[in-house]
Amino acid sequence: MKNTPIDCKIIDEAINEMHITDLSKATIREVKAIAAKAEEISGVEFIKMEMGVPGLPPSAVGVQAEIEALQNGIASLYPDINGLPALKQEASNFVKAFINVDINPEGCVPVTGSMQGTYASFLVCSQSDEKRDTILFIDPGFPVQKQQLVVMGQNYETFDVYDYRGDKLRGKLESYLSKGNISAIIYSNPNNPSWVCLKEEELKVIGELATQYDVIVLEDLAYFAMDFRTDLSIPYQTPYQPSVAHYTDNYVLLISGSKAFSYAGQRIGVTCISNSLYNRTYPGFVKRYGGGTFGTVFIHRVLYALSSGTSHSAQYAMAAMLKAANEGKYNFLKDVSIYGERAHKLKEIFIRHGFHLVYDKDLDQPVADGFYFTIGYPGMKGCELIKELMYYGVSAISLDTTGSKQEGLRACTSFIKDHQYDQLEERMQLFEKNNPISKK
Ligand SMILES: Cc1ncc(COP(=O)(O)O)c(C=O)c1O
Repeated sequence: MKNTPIDCKIIDEAINEMHITDLSKATIREVKAIAAKAEEISGVEFIKMEMGVPGLPPSAVGVQAEIEALQNGIASLYPDINGLPALKQEASNFVKAFINVDINPEGCVPVTGSMQGTYASFLVCSQSDEKRDTILFIDPGFPVQKQQLVVMGQNYETFDVYDYRGDKLRGKLESYLSKGNISAIIYSNPNNPSWVCLKEEELKVIGELATQYDVIVLEDLAYFAMDFRTDLSIPYQTPYQPSVAHYTDNYVLLISGSKAFSYAGQRIGVTCISNSLYNRTYPGFVKRYGGGTFGTVFIHRVLYALSSGTSHSAQYAMAAMLKAANEGKYNFLKDVSIYGERAHKLKEIFIRHGFHLVYDKDLDQPVADGFYFTIGYPGMKGCELIKELMYYGVSAISLDTTGSKQEGLRACTSFIKDHQYDQLEERMQLFEKNNPISKK
């Protein structure tokens, strides 16, 4: 029996009690529950890296604006289904200031988080043309988005971008798009879970093919401008957050308050639909709704049916945060750059003890330090590593659940506390000793 910080039996029993047969398929909540149980029984603190939840205080600008709005009585009023005009205007300014694209306020639509933004987008894209009944994921990705498609009964296809970066991306995408059944392509950039950031040349390929095959790109910017290798924090000034919006007119940008502004609890985001897509008609809309454009179906049919708009006070918060950022009065990226600093330290410890980064490069450049990183250990499959690390009081999720074909885990930096670097160092020293690489 190996000497480990947490008795293996405690972990094994917690896993058995939850009837989990394959840990690599365990959801984030299941991993969290096992870690909580083991922590309670053993009294040993876990280094929790499974949850992708912001670990910072919410943006003060947002909180203040929201309190004021509530005190002014807006809670009793239904919000405008199109969105608060001030938020629509600030969102339009924001995409100009930080991406350098022009989107009319009309197409900037508040949603109850990007989760609702993708749900509504998936619906509208899928309804546009009955021949196009499939969404394509450039994976790895955020597992709940596939769950959304399962809930609505829509098909999806997926490939792991790991082997298709750079020049290889075009051929791979065309192999799907040429079949004619894809309505939309989705990816996140920076990417959850790998923190890969697609380069301009890759976004160009995606944009060109979206135009050529007439598909819609859903660009999920949940981690807006959080590629800390480059300072993207100055409004109306290069460098900008890279975006497919520069290479096609068929796009929807999903901007979230959750991570960049640490505002996840209020469920607020903005879905920004390109001017040309907003006004576009599709045969599927005529059949289902008797008419409408992408934008009007999105707002007046789908969002209306889903939630009749977005929490009124949270819209005031988001408007204030975007306004302050646009005016250069609030550097939201400074608040969240701590995630990058944590990733840097954590990666260094893991690598020194024999681990490697699974997604390690953006073409020729090492991936950025940010909210997530991916780790593997020689000779261990993801399902083995996730369990083995739990014996050392470290919890993370398997890449298996994210559409990745690689063996390894996703680690999130958001809950790491300052005293835990020493803890991790000590535990990984022991891990390395107990799992010598040469014998594998
Ligand atoms: C890639 C990605 N998209 C969307 C979301 C959800 O964003 P929101 O909280 O705005 O619904 C997350 C949250 O973890 C995410 O990682």
